[in-house]
Amino acid sequence: MTPPVELLKPAQAVMNNAHSPYSNFKVGAALRSTDGQIFTGCNVENASYGLTICAERNAVFAAIATGIKDFTEILIVADSDKLPYPCGACRQVLSEFCPLDFNIYIVANQNHEITEKLSLGELLPKSFTM
Ligand code: THU
Repeated sequence: MTPPVELLKPAQAVMNNAHSPYSNFKVGAALRSTDGQIFTGCNVENASYGLTICAERNAVFAAIATGIKDFTEILIVADSDKLPYPCGACRQVLSEFCPLDFNIYIVANQNHEITEKLSLGELLPKSFTM
C-alpha cells in the first residue's frame, strides 16, 4: 500500500536527525492529532545504552508537552528494508492516549512497497490499564 505522504515526509525528515551511532538504525515517527497537527520524533541513543528513547515515544511526548492528547494515526519509518514494528514499550505508551482503532503505518524506507497498516488493537491486544 502507499503510505500517507503528509505523514511520510515529516517522518523521513526527522528520521535523518536520529542519534543512533551505536545501532546505526535510524527511525522517524510522525503522529497526527485529532485536530490535524503533526508531531515528530526520532530515536535518540546514549552511550549508556538503556537510556535510549525510541522515535515513537519522542513523538508522543512532544505532543503531550504542547497540551495535545488525542491522536488518530502514526507513521513509523526506518532506514531499513525491513518493517520497523514498534517495540512493546512504545505500544504501551501509545495505548495510554490512543484508541484501539488508532492507525499505525509502518514503512521500510528502502522499500515503500512493503508499507503495512495496523491498528493499535491488533498490535497490543488486552493491554494493561489502570
Ligand atoms: N527503535 C525505535 O526508535 N523504535 C522502536 O519501536 C524500536 C527501536 C530504535 C531504538 C534504537 O535506537 C534503535 O531503534 C535500535 O534498537
